[in-house]
Amino acid sequence: MYYTEETIEKVCSANDIVEVVGQAVRLKKKGSSYFGLCPFHSEKTPSFSVTPSKQIYYCFGCGAGGNVISFMKNYENMTFPEAVKSLADRAGITLPEVSLSEEGRAYKKERERMLSLLKDAASFYFRLLRSEQGADGMAYFKKRGISPGVMQSFGLGYAGKKNALTPFLKEKGYTDKEIDSAGLVYVNEKTGMRDRFFNRVIFPIMDVNNRVIAFGGRVMGDGEPKYLNSPETMVFEKSKNLYGLNIAKKSRKGYFIACEGYMDVISMHQAGFTEAVASLGTAFTGDHARILKRYTDDIRLAYDSDNAGVKAALRAIPILKNQGIGVRVIALSPCKDPDEFIGKYGVKEFQKRIDTAENSLTFEIHILQRNYDLSDPEGRTRFQLKMAKRLSAIDNELERNNYTQAFASEYMMDGELLKRAVEEQRIRGDNTESFSSEIRLKDELKGGRRKKAPDSGVLEAEKLLLNLMSDEPGKIFRAVKQYLEPEDFSPGVPFICADMLYKQMEEGSLNIPSILNRFEDPGEQRLAAEIFNSPMDQELSIKEKENAVTDLVIRIKKDSMRRNLDLMDEDPLERTLREKRVLEKLEKVRISFE
Ligand code: GTP
Ligand code: MN
Repeated sequence: MYYTEETIEKVCSANDIVEVVGQAVRLKKKGSSYFGLCPFHSEKTPSFSVTPSKQIYYCFGCGAGGNVISFMKNYENMTFPEAVKSLADRAGITLPEVSLSEEGRAYKKERERMLSLLKDAASFYFRLLRSEQGADGMAYFKKRGISPGVMQSFGLGYAGKKNALTPFLKEKGYTDKEIDSAGLVYVNEKTGMRDRFFNRVIFPIMDVNNRVIAFGGRVMGDGEPKYLNSPETMVFEKSKNLYGLNIAKKSRKGYFIACEGYMDVISMHQAGFTEAVASLGTAFTGDHARILKRYTDDIRLAYDSDNAGVKAALRAIPILKNQGIGVRVIALSPCKDPDEFIGKYGVKEFQKRIDTAENSLTFEIHILQRNYDLSDPEGRTRFQLKMAKRLSAIDNELERNNYTQAFASEYMMDGELLKRAVEEQRIRGDNTESFSSEIRLKDELKGGRRKKAPDSGVLEAEKLLLNLMSDEPGKIFRAVKQYLEPEDFSPGVPFICADMLYKQMEEGSLNIPSILNRFEDPGEQRLAAEIFNSPMDQELSIKEKENAVTDLVIRIKKDSMRRNLDLMDEDPLERTLREKRVLEKLEKVRISFE
C-alpha cells in the first residue's frame, strides 16, 4: 500500500464527508442524514444519503457507497493515492514528503514492473504459438476460423505443455514474488512455482491503452475449467475492464455491442464488427457501464441465447439504463452466441439482427410472457398485471403511453383497460422492484436446474442488526453480544464488519470509515457501506427496537446454527433433535437494552 494506515486515518478524519460531498452534490438535511441526487446514476428524486455521524455515503437507488476516499475515487475518477493526496491538500495536511515520494515511487515502480512482466509473458506466449511447439494451439485457432491478422491484433498466444514461462521470466530477471503477484503461477510447497496456464490457448487481456494486464486461457477441446483467467492484481480489476475495448474505442459506429465471451468478441471483430466488447464471464457492473458511457449511449447486447445469457442480459439492462444508456437486445436464435451465428449465417445476416435489435423493454416483456399460458384466462390476467406493473415504472408519460398501446395491440388487449391498469400501478407506486428478479425462466420454474439460492433474508437481517449496533454504541451492542459472536454472521463481508465492529466497540472507539478501508474490492466496500447505512426508521420506540433486535438476533442465530450443523457430519435424526433443542432455547430469547 502507498500510505501508512495512520496517514490514511488522519486524512479521513480531517475531511468531513458532508463538506466534501457537498461540493459536488446539493445536499439537504433530513433527520440525522443528508440527501441529494446521486452523482453515480441518473435519477430525479434523491436517494443518495450522507451520514455525518458515520462519515459514509450510500445510494439507495444504485448501491454506490463508501467513505470519503471512495467518494473521491469514484466521483473524480482518481486512484486511491490520488484521492488521499487531494484530500490531504484540501485539509492542509502535508503528507510526509520523504516517505511519500519513497512509497510513491515504490508503488509506481511495482506497477511498472508488473506491466513489463506481463508484456514479456504475452510475447512469450505469442512467440510460442508461432513456433513448432505451438502447433496444437495454431491448429485450434485455425479450426475456429480465426485469421492470422486477427490473431495478431488480439495478440493471441499459446501456453505449452512444459513449465516454461516461469523459467523464462526468471531468466529475464523477475523475482519469484513479482511473478507470483502478477498472477501467473501457482505456488505449492512441494513443487514450488508452476505456470498457471498450461496447455491452453492464450487470450491477453488489454486495458484501453493497449497494455497487457491479464490473461485468459482456453482448453483446446473439452476440459474443465473451459477458461482459466488471471486473478485480480494491482493492475487488473475485473469489474473495470472490458475485453476488446482497446480496439472498439476506435470504431465509429455510434453504438457498441456487448457480449459475453472472448471468442464472440474475436469473431465479431473479424467479421468487421469492431465495436464489440465483452465483460468476460463476470457480471456486468456499474463500472463497466460508466466506462462505456464515455464512448456511447447506445448499447446492443449480444448475450448468449441460453437461460444464463438471458438472465445476464436482464441484469445488465437496468445497470446500463441507470447510466442513461439506451439498450437493445440482439436476437441470436437459432444460434447460441454471436460466434456461432456469424459462422452459420454470415456478416449480412448479423448486421440485419443488429439493425432490428429489440428495445430492452420489449425484450423484458417477451421474456416475461414465456412464463404464462396466455390461452388460460388466469394466466393471461396475471401476465397482464405484471406487464402493467413494468409499464408503470416508465416515468415519461408519452413513452409510457406509447408502450402501453404497442403491447395492448401486440397481445390483443383493450388499450384503455391496460392503460388504466398501468396508471393504477403508478398510483400504488410499487414499481421499483428490479425486473430481472421477478422473471423466472421456464426451466427454473420446473425446478430443473435451480441452484440453492443464498438466503438473502439473513443478509438483510445482518445488515439491519449491524447497523443498529453501530447506531447506538452502548446499549444495543452490549445486549446483542450476549447472544451473538462475530462468527455468527455470514462469512465474508458481514463477518468482517461484525468482527471489526466488536473489536472497536470493546475498545470504545467506533470508526466506520476505517472498517470500510479494510475492503479493497469496490463491490465489497459498497456492501459494507450499505450495512452501516440507516435504512431503519428512526422513530421506533425502545420497546419496538427491542422487539426488532430480538427478532433479528434469533434469525441470525438460527442461520448460524444451521451452517454449523451442516459442517458436522452427523446422523440426520441426531441433527434434527439437536436443531430442535437449540431452536426451543432460541425462541425464549428476549432482548432488553436495560
Ligand atoms: P467458446 O466456447 O470457446 O466459444 O467460448 P465463449 O467465449 O463462447 O465462452 P462461453 O460463452 O462459454 O463463456 C463466456 C465467457 O465466460 C468466456 O469467454 C469466459 O470469459 C467466461 N468463462 C466461460 N467458462 C469459464 C470458466 O470455466 N471459468 C471462467 N473463469 N470463466 C469462464
Ligand atoms: Mn462460443
